[in-house]
Amino acid sequence: MSKAVLVIVQQSAFVLGLIGLMFYISWQLSLIFILITPIIAFVVHFVSKRFRKISKNIQGAMGEVTSAAEQTFNGHKVVLTFGGQEKEFARFQQINNQNRHQRMKLVAAKAGSVPIIQIIASFALAFVFYAVNSDTLRESISAGSFISIITYMVMLLRPLKMLTDVNSEFQRGMAACTSIFSVLDQEKEKDTGVKHLDKAQGYIAFKNVNFAYDYHVNDHDEQGDLVKNKWALDDVSFELNPGETLAFVGRSGSGKSTASALLLRFYDAGEGEILIDGTKIENYFLKDLRHQFAYVSQDVVLFNDTLANNIAYGKPEATMDEIIAAAKSAHILEFADKMAQGLQTNIGENGALLSGGQRQRVAIARALLCDAPFLILDEATSALDTESERHIQDALQTLQQNRTSIVIAHRLSTIENADKIIVMDQGKIIEQGTHQTLLDKNGAYAQLHNFQFES
Ligand SMILES: Nc1ncnc2c1ncn2[C@@H]1O[C@H](COP(=O)(O)OP(=O)(O)OP(=O)(O)O)[C@@H](O)[C@H]1O
Ligand SMILES: [Mg+2]
Repeated sequence: MSKAVLVIVQQSAFVLGLIGLMFYISWQLSLIFILITPIIAFVVHFVSKRFRKISKNIQGAMGEVTSAAEQTFNGHKVVLTFGGQEKEFARFQQINNQNRHQRMKLVAAKAGSVPIIQIIASFALAFVFYAVNSDTLRESISAGSFISIITYMVMLLRPLKMLTDVNSEFQRGMAACTSIFSVLDQEKEKDTGVKHLDKAQGYIAFKNVNFAYDYHVNDHDEQGDLVKNKWALDDVSFELNPGETLAFVGRSGSGKSTASALLLRFYDAGEGEILIDGTKIENYFLKDLRHQFAYVSQDVVLFNDTLANNIAYGKPEATMDEIIAAAKSAHILEFADKMAQGLQTNIGENGALLSGGQRQRVAIARALLCDAPFLILDEATSALDTESERHIQDALQTLQQNRTSIVIAHRLSTIENADKIIVMDQGKIIEQGTHQTLLDKNGAYAQLHNFQFES
């Protein structure tokens, strides 16, 4: 766009200057020329609109090409396993074709518009030749003036062509701006905080929390009935005191991860209140709030960096000794020592050089290192072998002693010692209590438990 602006300013000034001179020499001849201008302007306007529309489509198509390629490259193992090559190939080809199609349209519009404008200009020139030979004009214009005007007209052609060319570039820039600004103008994450929180004491309370990912109150289905929200959390209430451990168990999709996502304010609860130390979490500054949590998420995310830097992600100022201690507790040294550069080994994009269990250990070490008052472990040890799970469990248990922890686990053996166990089903709490009380109750938990230990 900035290049386009330069050309527009430069060439427009040139064009205006030349036209001024022409009028000065002979207004009659120049008038003929000026009468042609609206026609050219109309063509340019029509073409610009088309350029802008096609450019927008091209950018969309280009985005799809890259995202389709990325998706296939990232999932190449799945593609190979399930024989999806042809499907992916066809999809990629279709997207590419679409892109090519849009580009052809752009080229066609460009190829069409430039000659049309030039033809109009040539007719104007021809008409001037004709007019100047008429008896009235022949008298009033000297040969010198005539030659000057013709020269100026010819000189006008080049800047005019540049102006029309730059127009397409300008429109492309405008289309790019539109899509960039639609991203930049996205609403920022709402930080309604008014309160600082240095280090929380460790109270958590959920009060009648309801939450749906798609919170559309006025949605109607095909019959016109009001769609009932599918609550991911339905009237969830519980309290946790400092140092206590709460375990969430329950079927896949019952809302366990959702509860922890609400605590970190990745989403805001639709209804109800979530309190930390007696204050609604919306009232804390977001940064302060999130600073209170060490979080091992269900899908481990690692960065293309060294093992040590990945471990220290939440606490960049950690000393090497602290990092080594965390790595030791999470049993990372076991495999790090075998790597060429130990903890300084680069682990590749999203930790591609590590096994599933090793990746999980790095995520655990990351949480171990940051000294936060709350600990959330979402299936943190699910990919580990039984022996390392036991060792890491010990390390985690030490950590949980003076922290309020939320543990989500499918393997019930790992949560038997929790102070409180909540059994979830379809977003609802169906049972809560300690391991022993729940077993005695002989309900859903006992059933789950028997199922796991009989087999
Ligand atoms: N980002 C999302 N957008 C829309 N719906 C979601 C999203 N994440 C989860 N859900 C839905 O919310 C419900 C609860 O999901 P959640 O991730 O809390 O389950 P979970 O108990 O953690 O299950 P799992 O044990 O499999 O991890 C599910 O029905 C799921 O389909
Ligand atoms: Mg989950």
